[in-house]
Amino acid sequence: MSDQDLVIRDLHVAPAAKPDHEILKGIDLTVRPGEVHAIMGPNGSGKTTLAYALMGHPAYIIKSGQVLWKGHDLLALKADKRARLGMFLAFQYPMAIPGLSVASFLRSAINARRSGLESDPNVDHTDAFRGGIPMGEFRKLVKAKMALLKMDESIAARYVNEGFSGGEKKRLEMLQMAVLEPEMAILDETDSGLDIDALRIVAEGVNAMLNPNMGVLVITHYQRLLDYITPDTVHVLAAGRIITSGGKELALQLEKDGYAPILAAAGLEGIVTDEAPAGEANDELAGTPTVGAVR
Ligand SMILES: Nc1ncnc2c1ncn2[C@@H]1O[C@H](COP(=O)(O)OP(=O)(O)OP(=O)(O)O)[C@@H](O)[C@H]1O
Ligand SMILES: [Mg+2]
Repeated sequence: MSDQDLVIRDLHVAPAAKPDHEILKGIDLTVRPGEVHAIMGPNGSGKTTLAYALMGHPAYIIKSGQVLWKGHDLLALKADKRARLGMFLAFQYPMAIPGLSVASFLRSAINARRSGLESDPNVDHTDAFRGGIPMGEFRKLVKAKMALLKMDESIAARYVNEGFSGGEKKRLEMLQMAVLEPEMAILDETDSGLDIDALRIVAEGVNAMLNPNMGVLVITHYQRLLDYITPDTVHVLAAGRIITSGGKELALQLEKDGYAPILAAAGLEGIVTDEAPAGEANDELAGTPTVGAVR
């Protein structure tokens, strides 16, 4: 085991609003640099909760367990520190930030990321002359990444996600990832809402970003994304636990048979898989301003 591995041990998480109601009931997972792990599972099983818990969303509390990454006790770090360390979450429901242009947002995010965990008092990343990304370099970088994702450059002048279509929001999440070059990327249903061409372009963009230093957690409901982004391991999350893991053939099997046989094998046949208004819960969270501030 290397200290570059993301190691999650027996993680139990509850929403801050309902601290006695555990959503995650003991997650064990290790993602090594260069590996792609897919997480699938019924609606309301806790996938987004896992993503938020890893990112440090204040609406969730860690009841017990451990997360180690890059020599740090990740759970002891605030969300912005985790982002500065190189962790990135592409939201299932990206929120709008009226008044903040995509260009300013990306530039601040890059400067924050470059300043790292311990900021150097001699360097001011908000100032291009004292260590911040120079305008020319920034423009070049964003232009190249937009080309990779086949995005219209006019988007840079618009407000973050304001009036964006569902697919445009997901593409902007990928543009953020592309410019920030994270070392751990969590993609929460980035494929949902994309048309077939956009799915391919985004997936090719993600593939182009893959490198031996980056671990990826891809949360998805659909096997088709995994046709493009080949996972090393597929995990099934149900009722707050990883009930089975396998290769990419597991995703094919789920597509064919649904969750029932796997849930039955785990003794969970009684659970109602779509009981939860997970979308509503997340939409509420999407309004939490602190989330946008972390990246
Ligand atoms: N802040 C919260 N307050 C109360 N309940 C919550 C909160 N966040 C999540 N939950 C509940 O926890 C459960 C898991 O939600 P989560 O969003 O993690 O599911 P998911 O696996 O991402 O589902 P989907 O596939 O629909 O996105 C759901 O029952 C949801 O309603
Ligand atoms: Mg979700």
